[in-house]
Amino acid sequence: MSLKDKRILLIIAGGIAAYKSLDLIRRLKERGAAVTPVMTKAAEEFVTPLAVGALSGGTVFTDLFSRTQEQDVGHIRLARENDLIIVAPATANLMAKMAHGLADDLASAVLLARDCPVLLAPAMNPKMWSAPPTQRNLATLLMDGVETIGPMKGEMAERGEAGKGRMAEPMEIVVAAEKRLDDSPRPLAGKHAIVTSGPTVEAIDPVRYIANRSSGRQGHAIAAALARLGAQVTLVSGPVAIADPPGVETLHVESARDMLKTVEKALPADIAVMVAAVSDWRAADTAQQKMKKKPGEAPPPLALTENPDILKTIGHHARRPRLVVGFAAETRDVTAYATDKLARKGADLIVANDVSEEGVMGGGHNRVTLVTKSGAEEWPDMSKDAVAERLAHWIAERFVAQASLPF
Ligand code: C5P
Repeated sequence: MSLKDKRILLIIAGGIAAYKSLDLIRRLKERGAAVTPVMTKAAEEFVTPLAVGALSGGTVFTDLFSRTQEQDVGHIRLARENDLIIVAPATANLMAKMAHGLADDLASAVLLARDCPVLLAPAMNPKMWSAPPTQRNLATLLMDGVETIGPMKGEMAERGEAGKGRMAEPMEIVVAAEKRLDDSPRPLAGKHAIVTSGPTVEAIDPVRYIANRSSGRQGHAIAAALARLGAQVTLVSGPVAIADPPGVETLHVESARDMLKTVEKALPADIAVMVAAVSDWRAADTAQQKMKKKPGEAPPPLALTENPDILKTIGHHARRPRLVVGFAAETRDVTAYATDKLARKGADLIVANDVSEEGVMGGGHNRVTLVTKSGAEEWPDMSKDAVAERLAHWIAERFVAQASLPF
C-alpha cells in the first residue's frame, strides 16, 4: 500500500518528541502523501511553524480563531478533507481532550469534527502514560475506533528515566499509516505468526562466544512480509546488525535456550517460521570469569554440548502451530536432506537453500527449494525480500484454503 496522493493531516502536540515529527513529514512526503500540519500552542515551544511549513510545503495551521486561517480553510473543512489524521506526538493532555470531546483549540476541534480515521503516536513520561486517567482515556479512544502506534520502551528525555513512553520512530508511524489506509486483501488477518531470525550467540566466558554468519535478513524480511499480509507477527531475533522490521513485535535474545524460551512464551500461534541459524552446540560449561591465557600452557579444551532444537520442539509441541516451517541451509544434496528434516522435525514445509554458493549466508539473495510431503518446488534465484514476499503469499494461500493443511 502506498501513501501516494493520500491527504494526511498531521497534528503536532507539545512534547519533546515533536522534533521527530519533522522527519515524519519528510517520510510521508517521500511516499507521495500531501501533509497538512496543525500545531498546538505547546508544540510551538518545541518546533517552529517555520520549520514545519518548510518541510510540509504549505500552510501550517495553528489557531482556531485566526481570521486569516479560518477564512482560508476553516476548522470544519480542515477536519474533512483528509484520508487520515495522524497525531504525533500525542500528549496525555491532547488524548484527555479527545477522550472527552473538548474542542478548545484548533487541534482538538479538528479531532472532534473529523470524519476520517485517526492514528495516535503517544509520547509522554512513562508515569504519565501508566497513570490511571491516561489509561482510562486510552481505553475510551480505542473504543471510539482510534488507533495507536506505541509508545515504545526506551530512554526518556528526562535523565535516568526509562520505560514505556517514547514516541514510535517516524518509519514505524509511516508503516502504521500505510497499514491503516491499506484496503488490499489481508489474508492473514487475525493470525499470529512467530518467526525466528539471525544467529544465536553462545557464551564461552563473559567475553568470548560461539556464533555464525547469519545476518537475519531472510528471517526479518519474512516477518515483515507476513505482517504486510495482515498477520500479527512476533519476531524472535538473535543479535543482528539490521533494524527491527516495522509493523512487527521484535523480541531480542542471545542464546538458543533464550530463543526457545521466548518462542514458547509467544505461543499460541497459527504459523511458525523458524529461520534462525541456531547454534547446534554451546559450551558445556560457561566460565564465570574471563579465561586466562597462561604462558607455556596448552590452550584449554572447549567441551561442547547440544543446544535444544527449537524447530523440532515446536514441531512436536502440545500447542503446535497449525503451520510449521523450517529452513535448511545445506551445501549439498539439498532436497534429500530437506525431506529427511521434514519428518524428523515435525515441519509441514522445509525451505531448503544451497549455501554452498557464495553470498547467500549474510548476502542479499537466495535460491530456495520448497520441500513438502507432496514434493519439491524449485524457485529461481531471487532477492531475500522477494523470497520473503513469495513465501508469505505461499503460506497465505495454503492457510486460506484450510483443506490443504496439513500438506
Ligand atoms: O538441523 P538444521 O540445523 O539444519 O535445521 C535447520 C532448521 O532448524 C532451521 O529452520 C532452524 O531455524 C531450525 N533449528 C532450530 N533449532 C536448532 C537447530 C535448527 O530451530 N537447534
